Amino acid sequence: MDATREAWARADAFLTETLIGPDAGLDAALAAQRAAGMPPIEVAPLAGKLLHLLVRISGARRVLEIGTLGGYSTIWMARAVGEAGRVVTVEALAAHAAVARASVDAAGVGERVDIRVGRGAEVLPTLVPGFDLVFIDADKESGTLYLDWAARLGHPGTVVIVDNIGRAGEIVRADSDDPMVAGTRDALRMLGEHPRFDATALQTVGAKGWDGLAVAVVI
Ligand code: DHB
Ligand code: MG
Repeated sequence: MDATREAWARADAFLTETLIGPDAGLDAALAAQRAAGMPPIEVAPLAGKLLHLLVRISGARRVLEIGTLGGYSTIWMARAVGEAGRVVTVEALAAHAAVARASVDAAGVGERVDIRVGRGAEVLPTLVPGFDLVFIDADKESGTLYLDWAARLGHPGTVVIVDNIGRAGEIVRADSDDPMVAGTRDALRMLGEHPRFDATALQTVGAKGWDGLAVAVVI
């Protein structure tokens, strides 16, 4: 790792220790995900806490997550919706959903979490509209489809967050033939142009390298 990357990673570790620290439920969820051989692509702890705070700040009670993985971000958001709140989370792979189910239950928020197994294109049309916050963190090729559903299933004022909008600068490489890059770029253009979104994006550096998040509101 070069000196700059190392300094970013050390600063990230300091911020994580200082602002989050150990957390039994979240740490166990990560351990279970690693033990199951799932990819280590969950949000970083500081980003997980940002999701948690955005749920609290917006007062969201119904949260939709697209891309559950092992339930790490799900736990962060489920803790923020309150006793009567709910997180519906969509996961394409049944094996991932099973790990997430066990982890959200072990973290004590299982009653607030509804895991729907299936691809977004099949599951999203079956959901009841009225979500107050939508977190999109699934296959990047489907970004515009997920944004379309976020607008349909949300309402004016719904907060929409999109993970992985930077991809280490790949999004501006004109010669990239990576469909994840094209999908991310299309999603960002949609956020910029679509009359039902007002959006910004922040690049991030840290434990997960160079990436970023978009934050939008549904108009
Ligand atoms: C990938 C997906 C993610 O959601 C992420 O946070 C990092 C990487 C990926 O598919 O490469
Ligand atoms: Mg992601």
